[in-house]
Amino acid sequence: MFVTFEGIEGTGKTTQIQKVKKYFESRGKEVFLTLEPGGSRVGQELRKMLLHVDNKDLTPITELFLYLADRAQHIAQVIRPELEAGKVVLCDRFADSTIVYQGYGRGLDTKILQQFNEVAVDGLWPDLTVILDIDPELGLKRATLRNIEDGKAEEEGRFEAEHISFHKRIREGYLTWAALNRDRIKVADASSTPDEVFKRIKDIIDTRFFTAD
Ligand code: TYD
Repeated sequence: MFVTFEGIEGTGKTTQIQKVKKYFESRGKEVFLTLEPGGSRVGQELRKMLLHVDNKDLTPITELFLYLADRAQHIAQVIRPELEAGKVVLCDRFADSTIVYQGYGRGLDTKILQQFNEVAVDGLWPDLTVILDIDPELGLKRATLRNIEDGKAEEEGRFEAEHISFHKRIREGYLTWAALNRDRIKVADASSTPDEVFKRIKDIIDTRFFTAD
């Protein structure tokens, strides 16, 4: 079972993935947690390159190929072997991030991006993708609250406020893409408490994997 998680900032993705891990374990599965970018040894180098503030001059195409390189290595070296070892693989972001951020976000052609994704994943698509969906204003509020708690309101608050229109575009992109891939991608409302959100995700997982039990 290969499950990926997607969404904008402030959805509580990390918290939910931990809950999902515990849930699969409670059903007797061994779980392997991973993420993109950065899920392989080489990928960790690529992640530094992609997320470092000094590399803001990366062109959209260069950025795209770095994400794809990260994915190809991740699939070959980590995801496929872990699945073959019988584990449930839970991945924080995957190919749909490329469609949404590089496509709907940066304006690259989503059809071409999907073809590149096909090459990178080498036939290994997730069995299920869960998009945690939240109004970007609410996501921003959550992130701002967290920044105040962390004493970083000014620096990070401004940064997030500047990106609200980008986050709105990303959110719409996720919803559009989910509607085009209804069999694989399910959308979970992430605007309520962590336990309520998890219940929605659990229902999605049960329907996909455990209904025959
Ligand atoms: P990260 O700090 O892991 O973000 P988050 O905690 O929100 O998951 O940074 C990953 C960033 O990379 C995030 O902004 C989304 C972006 N991204 C892409 O643009 N394309 C991709 O293919 C992937 C996997 C991520």
